[in-house]
Amino acid sequence: MTTPAHFLTLTDLPPGKLRSLLKRAVELKTMQQQGEHYEPLKGKVMGMVFEKSSTRTRVSFETGMAQFGGHAIFLSPRDTQLGRGEPIEDSARVLSRMVDVIMIRTFEHEKIERFAACSRVPVINALTDRYHPCQLLADMQTYLEHRGDIRGRTVTWIGDGNNMCHSYIKAARLLDFKLHIACPEGYEPESAILESGTGEHVTLIRDPLEAATGSDLVVTDVWASMGQEEEQARRVKAFANYQVTEAVMAAAKPDALFMHCLPAHRGEEVAASVIDGPQSVVWDEAENRLHSQKALLELLLAN
Ligand code: CP
Ligand code: NVA
Repeated sequence: MTTPAHFLTLTDLPPGKLRSLLKRAVELKTMQQQGEHYEPLKGKVMGMVFEKSSTRTRVSFETGMAQFGGHAIFLSPRDTQLGRGEPIEDSARVLSRMVDVIMIRTFEHEKIERFAACSRVPVINALTDRYHPCQLLADMQTYLEHRGDIRGRTVTWIGDGNNMCHSYIKAARLLDFKLHIACPEGYEPESAILESGTGEHVTLIRDPLEAATGSDLVVTDVWASMGQEEEQARRVKAFANYQVTEAVMAAAKPDALFMHCLPAHRGEEVAASVIDGPQSVVWDEAENRLHSQKALLELLLAN
């Protein structure tokens, strides 16, 4: 049995493949909008394991599989044996003998690595505590559509050094853009991940206004991620100066875009006037989860 190609972090795709995937996502979007039927995954089945909540990820993967002529099965730990303690390795062995591809949203990143090690079919990371690579596919497609190639541009991340921030660090290296990270003390990205990008691509700049200055894209995310709900009050205090406001957007370039993976908390990490304003592309970004993941599924499965 050959090892299947997994997508656990963005760097599982070499830069050239990532760039062609983004272009393909744009093509697949046009085909869908023109009503063209394209069913490369007829008869294929995706297993979708969700140990955390989701709106966009679930709907985009299920819809993508349906549009491609395949099928998707939603699996929640509430009603599968995974939730009753069946080992992750055993679940991987069993599921991967039945379905053609598996996506997982879970907590510890190590869990998806253990799952993938025992899977006969490609495994896709649909968010772990450490990475959210599928969201980066959508974000990068959205930038490409609105502004062209992101190579050489400056992106500012404002907020928590979380799973999304980690994936932006990976993207900066792969797609060759500069990433400024503005986060409060104690909420930096994991040091090993940060160090992998510092120097040429990634710079930590504490002050959000300074970090945003001259940026082409400003990105943020919630202050407390899934699983950190009990830290909410402490985080609201720590992140008080890390809201993407109109002043932050004014420091960026006049044609800078604003992105947020959603769900968003207006009045916390982003002002309502920014997320609902003219520089925000969050709805295109959310839609592109569908198209970019179809391009990913095609790459992993259609051949
Ligand atoms: N952005 C994102 O992954 O959204 P969901 O949590 O709704 O899937
Ligand atoms: N950082 C957020 C992203 C949600 C899509 C979380 O992990 O909850």
